Amino acid sequence: MSMGFEECAVVRDGFPRPIPETPSNVLEQFRMTGKVVVVTGAADGIGYAVSEAMAEANANVAMWYNSLAEVHGLKTSAYKVDSKGITYSAARCKTKQHALVSNPQEVQDGIKKVMEDFGRIDVFIANAETTLEEYRKLMSVNVDGVVACAKYVGEVFKRQGTGNLIITSSMSAHIVNVPTDQPVYNATKAFVTHFGKSLAREWREFARVNIVSPGFFNTKMGASPLGINEAYRMAVLGRQGHVKEIKGLYLYLASDASTYTTGSDVIVDGGYVLP
Ligand SMILES: NC(=O)c1ccc[n+]([C@@H]2O[C@H](COP(=O)([O-])OP(=O)(O)OC[C@H]3O[C@@H](n4cnc5c(N)ncnc54)[C@H](OP(=O)(O)O)[C@@H]3O)[C@@H](O)[C@H]2O)c1
Repeated sequence: MSMGFEECAVVRDGFPRPIPETPSNVLEQFRMTGKVVVVTGAADGIGYAVSEAMAEANANVAMWYNSLAEVHGLKTSAYKVDSKGITYSAARCKTKQHALVSNPQEVQDGIKKVMEDFGRIDVFIANAETTLEEYRKLMSVNVDGVVACAKYVGEVFKRQGTGNLIITSSMSAHIVNVPTDQPVYNATKAFVTHFGKSLAREWREFARVNIVSPGFFNTKMGASPLGINEAYRMAVLGRQGHVKEIKGLYLYLASDASTYTTGSDVIVDGGYVLP
C-alpha cells in the first residue's frame, strides 16, 4: 500500500542530497580536462565521432575496437606504443586503444588495462555493434557485451564512489523499424534501454547511467541501400544523421553539464519516430 502524507513527511537522513560542486559557467561544465572516458566500438561511425568529441573537450580517451583494420581515422596521428595498443595525441588529450571482443574476460582485462594506464574511469560509453544478423552474435555483442561492460565498470565506479555510464541503444528500442525486419536487433536494443534505466536506480549512490537512442546515421550500421528511401521518407528532416550531429549529446551526458541527468533516454533521429 502506498504512503499517506504523515509517513511521507518523515525526514530521511542525508536528504536532500548536496548539489555537486561543479562550475556554473556552461562552457566550463562541458570541459572534460582530467577525465578518463572509455568508448567501445570506437573504430568507426558513432563511436569514433564520440571519441573525437571527448578528445576535443580535452578528455583522456581509451578507445576500444574490434578489428584494428577499421581504425581509418587514426592514420594521421597514430603511433604504436606496445604490442597491445595504439596511442595518439590529439590537441592536449591522451588517447589509448585497447582491443576488445564481446567476451566477459576481455572486458574485465580491458578495464584492468585502462585502470593501469589511467588510474580511474570517469565515463564509460557502451556503443559496440556488429552487422552480423545471427541471433547469438547479436545477443552476444548488443546484450552480453553491454552487461559485461556494466558489470566490470560498475565495480570500478563503486570503488571510486563516482562514475558515468552511457549506453548506445537505438530508436529501434522504441519502434518496430521498417522496412527491414530485424526483431532480434530491436529486442536487444529494448533490453539495453531498460537495463540502463534500471541501472540508473541501482547505481544511484555512486554513478549516473543514461541512454542514447540514435535513428539512422550515415555509418556502416545506417540505412541499407534497399531501405534508404524509406529512411528519408520517415525522418521528418528527410535524411540520415551525420555523426557530427550526435557528438554534443554524448559530451553533454559525459560532462558536468548533466549532473542532474540519470536514467534518461534521448532519441536523436531527425523526427523518425514521430509519425
Ligand atoms: N548508424 C545507425 O543508423 C544507428 C542507428 C541506431 C543505433 N545505432 C547504434 O550505434 C552504435 C554504433 O554504431 P555505428 O552506426 O557507429 O556502426 P559502425 O560504424 O559499424 O561501428 C560499430 C563499431 O562497433 C565495433 N564492434 C563490433 N563488434 C564488436 C565487438 N565484439 N567488440 C568491440 N567492438 C565491436 C565495430 O568494430 P569493427 O568494425 O572493428 O568490427 C565498429 O567500430 C551501435 O550500438 C548501433 O546499434 C546506430
